Amino acid sequence: MSRYIILLLSFYAAVCHGHKLRQNGRQFPEGFLFGAATASYQVEGAWNEDGKSENIWDHMTHNDPCIIKDCSNGDIAADSYHKYQRDVEMMRELGLDFYRFSISWSRIMPTSFPDQINQAGVDYYNNLINEMLKYNIEPMVTLYHWDLPQKLQELGGWANPHIVDWYGDYARTMFQLFGDRVKYWITINEPYQVCYQGYGDVLKAPRLNLKGIGEYMCGKNILLAHARAYHIYDEEFRPSQGGIIFISYSAQWYEPDTEKRYRCCRRSQPVHEKVAAKSAAQGFARSRLVELSPEEVEYIRGTSDIFGLNHYVSFLVYRNESVYGSYDIPSFSDDLEVGLYQKNEWLIGESDFTKVVPWGFYNLLTKIREDYNNPTIFITENGFASRGGLNDDDRITYYRLYLDAMLDAIAEGSDIRAYTTWSLMDNYEWMYGYTERFGLYEINYNDPERPRTPRKSAFMYKEILRSRTLDF
Ligand code: NOJ
Repeated sequence: MSRYIILLLSFYAAVCHGHKLRQNGRQFPEGFLFGAATASYQVEGAWNEDGKSENIWDHMTHNDPCIIKDCSNGDIAADSYHKYQRDVEMMRELGLDFYRFSISWSRIMPTSFPDQINQAGVDYYNNLINEMLKYNIEPMVTLYHWDLPQKLQELGGWANPHIVDWYGDYARTMFQLFGDRVKYWITINEPYQVCYQGYGDVLKAPRLNLKGIGEYMCGKNILLAHARAYHIYDEEFRPSQGGIIFISYSAQWYEPDTEKRYRCCRRSQPVHEKVAAKSAAQGFARSRLVELSPEEVEYIRGTSDIFGLNHYVSFLVYRNESVYGSYDIPSFSDDLEVGLYQKNEWLIGESDFTKVVPWGFYNLLTKIREDYNNPTIFITENGFASRGGLNDDDRITYYRLYLDAMLDAIAEGSDIRAYTTWSLMDNYEWMYGYTERFGLYEINYNDPERPRTPRKSAFMYKEILRSRTLDF
């Protein structure tokens, strides 16, 4: 009888807490790849060494230092240009399958064009790649992670349609130089952020703030440039080099807050009417949407071998007139009028990078599976800006819950083959300078040697990679 009760209890526990019962070890699929990521401007430093020319982040941070939260710049950053051997040692300590890093266009091509190749820059990436390969760590290379050569910006940057050629020439040169050893290529990191935040707003270099215009011009060209690199690789290099090439998007989860929406919308209605009237008087002479011709659509279609996904946080969304009031773009339909706010119970720390919403990640993965016909996904970034120093238990919680959510999506059929933490080490967090720390390794920026020390989360990640199991 007592045996019967125990069985019944276990059955009940299994049904009601199936998730918990699995927690003494959830296995990752056979062949699943683990990596860590960085980007050139965020870690390399050596901003003007050995022939490198200026990029848009050098230019902006030197000319207007205190638009960055701590008035800092990436002149030295983590000094990876000089410390690449230690970086590879860290990859080995963790047991990474691959390392995702980006190439600095202006380090390799000081004129921005292939007429001059800076051999010292080529040597740096060759050394890094060869050192990694010595230890069977696969390079995953991002061709563009936000550090456009300044000269190209002066010609309009991503708003100039010629950039499709410029970027194509740059990409071809990278395939020629490194493609014998690099089998994973990411064309553009987060195109939406490049265009919206850099051309439509002031949140990233070059801070053009041409809302409703700049981001569309940039958007068209960056998609075509991505497609150009894809076709060049596909036609000229893939047959002999045999790698894959894709784009990485940033996607967060947006949860509608219906209660807030109701309260907000009734109250805000008259405000919208006023803004709408103003706009009708001012008007735009023509549509601001930059069109793609049917040929261009065809050229872009299908140009990503897999779906590269960067994901960090979730937001509750509701109508908020103040957001669009400030944009002065009044004629959005109700459904598109969103404002963002953070709900307190989602927060561990105090910034956008310290929210823990694993179900948002799960929902996003499910939506991608359902809406895009279950594409193969590489998670190319996921991470948390801990406040804990070396004892980053908050980051450990985040990683465990997000990996668990990812395993739930895989169990339901999502085709996710790789996971990348952001970041291998602390680095320059764009407009936040050095105030946000994402690293599995801590960098001591007060020491010119930039020593790297593993955090508690580094040991956790190492154990997951060793056991290929998520253990609770
Ligand atoms: C996205 C970007 O790709 C990366 O450069 C940045 O540091 C992280 N997210 C964190 O914001």
